[in-house]
Amino acid sequence: MKILILPDPAAAVARCVEIIAQTLNEKPQAVLGLATGGTMEPVYARLVERARAGEVAVDRMTSFNLDEYVGLPPEHSQSYHSYMRERLFGPLGLDPSRTHLPRGDAPDPAAEAARYDAAIAQAGGIDLQLLGIGGNGHIGFNEPSSSLASPTRVKTLTRATREANARFFGPDETVPRFAITMGIATILRSRHAVLLATGTKKATAVAAMAEGPLGARCPASALQMHPRATIVLDAEAAADLELRQYYETAHPEGQEVTLG
Ligand code: GLP
Repeated sequence: MKILILPDPAAAVARCVEIIAQTLNEKPQAVLGLATGGTMEPVYARLVERARAGEVAVDRMTSFNLDEYVGLPPEHSQSYHSYMRERLFGPLGLDPSRTHLPRGDAPDPAAEAARYDAAIAQAGGIDLQLLGIGGNGHIGFNEPSSSLASPTRVKTLTRATREANARFFGPDETVPRFAITMGIATILRSRHAVLLATGTKKATAVAAMAEGPLGARCPASALQMHPRATIVLDAEAAADLELRQYYETAHPEGQEVTLG
């Protein structure tokens, strides 16, 4: 794992967007795996800014999102389809045929999950998988106890996750109980995984992911098995890391160091 610690959330977001931009500039037809959640909102805002400034090539990329709530049609205001349309796909003017999310309203969610994994493989696999992390260590919607070899499938959400995500829903709406999520095995097949975490609320999960035992108690710990995982943190999210000093020596200010 490459652990990059930036002084504040804005610097962490900028570093994360830099990595995405580099990937797209090196390979404009790259396949990106995309995430949702509050952490990603400033990432997409900055990516849009940089695309509008002509600093990053976006029109040839393809994307696959991590997850979607079961039962929500694409037009529902709290669906991840809507989240992505409003924050990224619309502002970038992306061709909808290049952007993919699981269909939460598919009549057979299990079949939809299998179809989704096959579509990712058919697109050539994911070049860069963007990830956030839940307070309980989930990635995508792979809740604790998820098989570390799981394919894309339907998962039951924990109460903690539903409570954390209730802030996005109206007072009369309930957070769905199930989601279709890329599996841990799907995420591990990506050629580069980039996880962004900011804020104190993520510090415990981040330490468990990077320094805790590999195990289903903290699904994000599976990234310890990823051949190329980059973890981008702000100081608050990095607060519980025991080896923090080492990471800061290896990557001062979260930057690459040239050898020699
Ligand atoms: C959500 C999403 C994840 C996201 C995580 C953290 O439930 N399924 O992809 O990384 O929880 O969200 P936030 O960034 O809002 O803390």
